[in-house]
Amino acid sequence: MILVTGAAGFIGSHACVELLNAGYEIVTVDNLSNSKREAINRVKQITKRDFLFYPIDLLDKEALEKVFIENKIKAVIHFAGLKAVGESTEKPLMYYYNNIVGTIILCELMTKYKIKRIVFSSSATVYGMPDQVPISENSPLRAMNPYGRTKLMIEEILRDLYLSDKSWSISILRYFNPVGAHPSGTIGEDPNGIPSNLMPFITQVAIGKLNQLKVFGNDYETIDGTGIRDYIHVVDLAKGHLKALEVVMNTFGVKVFNLGTGSGYSVLQIIETFEKVTKKSVPYQIVERRQGDVAAIYADTNKAKDELGWVATKGLEEMCIDSWRWQVNNPKGYI
Ligand code: NAD
Ligand code: UFG
Repeated sequence: MILVTGAAGFIGSHACVELLNAGYEIVTVDNLSNSKREAINRVKQITKRDFLFYPIDLLDKEALEKVFIENKIKAVIHFAGLKAVGESTEKPLMYYYNNIVGTIILCELMTKYKIKRIVFSSSATVYGMPDQVPISENSPLRAMNPYGRTKLMIEEILRDLYLSDKSWSISILRYFNPVGAHPSGTIGEDPNGIPSNLMPFITQVAIGKLNQLKVFGNDYETIDGTGIRDYIHVVDLAKGHLKALEVVMNTFGVKVFNLGTGSGYSVLQIIETFEKVTKKSVPYQIVERRQGDVAAIYADTNKAKDELGWVATKGLEEMCIDSWRWQVNNPKGYI
């Protein structure tokens, strides 16, 4: 049995589908602070599999302990956390408390019940301004906002945990920019309010919910002046977790992997590809740079390829098509 925290979220729900399709038994937890219970129902529909869902908060140690008592957990995939960079600068204490204390409580219970295998959702944001791209796992770490610092601190907490007890097996996955949706069009990214990320903003402009996209700066030193990122299809990303799970089940230690495609695309390239494959127009306006944005970042994917045996297979067109299908099928998100 694999415990999945944050299972109702964007990446967690897709990972649950891949785990169930691969034959794993799962038990799931989410406090639904940034997601809907319907996502769990849809995972069951897609996979035709049943599993337990506990609508609880990681900060509620008693409730979480019940999950450990009631289920034979062998490993944990830990997605639960708050993830909005802007909000984290306004409410740093909320971010540090939720993300860090939530992880500490989870690890305390894992220690108590001797389940010392965890796959953790980190982020490429821990690299901050890259000295060079593609960026490899041993590049300097310098998170630039409270959200990023929660990820960096949790990475360090997990390293200290292993140093204190060598029977831990920990996989830290640094995601680049997850986009797309399950090809069924029934689960996907469902942001609260106005999206802060590029792809959900684009799909909401294309469907007419928002008037136009603001492109944050066209004066970066990139091919067309707009920011370059490594967009990765969420289904590829979800599959990476199955590979990481195999590693934590069979080895000890702390291993860090970038999960990206290794290719960078500019904002204008994303808009162009989206318009081409969906035949929808995405009106946009160039505005000032967004504070804290880096010009270009994309992954060196060699380590994941060599040690996990994982590579992303889905290209940008498929990412756009699948994001759009989810948007069209669920114009109001999960209701
Ligand atoms: P998401 O918000 O859709 O999913 C996170 C889930 O965790 C939500 O369903 C939320 O309700 C739940 N949650 C938050 N705090 C909780 C708590 N205290 N107890 C129980 N549940 C709690 O986000 P996502 O995009 O699926 O991201 C999953 C993980 O990957 C997060 O840790 C995020 O920081 C990380 N990550 C995301 C991205 C991205 O761009 N989406 C990039 C890098 C890393
Ligand atoms: N962008 C726009 N307009 C928008 C939104 C974004 O032009 O309305 C641009 C950004 O300037 C950037 C690119 O589109 O160049 C991607 O921006 P996102 O906000 O989608 O993604 P970020 O790379 O800024 O950040 C994301 C997640 C972080 C995570 C990071 C990891 O939001 O949580 O990837 O690299 F840490």
